[in-house]
Amino acid sequence: MSDEEKLIAAARQAREHAHAPFSEFRVGAAVRTKSGRTFGGCNVENASYGLTICAERVAIFKAISEGESEFDAIAVVADTDELTPPCGACRQIIWEFCGDVPVILANLKGKIERERSSKLLPRPFDSSNL
Ligand code: THU
Repeated sequence: MSDEEKLIAAARQAREHAHAPFSEFRVGAAVRTKSGRTFGGCNVENASYGLTICAERVAIFKAISEGESEFDAIAVVADTDELTPPCGACRQIIWEFCGDVPVILANLKGKIERERSSKLLPRPFDSSNL
């Protein structure tokens, strides 16, 4: 299995734990650290909808909370024909914590697309603007 396939598999596995009773839209993500560790995350919804957190942010925050700070890729998996890209909030978080990394989008049928975070979030606001 390639590194990319492993990351997609981890995102797919994390998706199994999605808590999405309101949208029923189940998403998994997995981020890989430069040290070679992988952290998965799923979306976790809330009855007060605004508290919902996306799979990408769960995966990244899990890694951060385990002491990781350097990342080299993130994968996102959903059960959609048109692949699911990160929302705007997640693009900001990906940029801020991962920098310019490959964002690998995949579905359950094996369709895969790759995009760089710098393309998903052109002209970002970050610490260099402060
Ligand atoms: N969602 C994610 O977890 N990641 C994405 O990339 C897109 C959207 C979640 C948030 C919410 O629980 C559900 O999908 C529907 O928006």
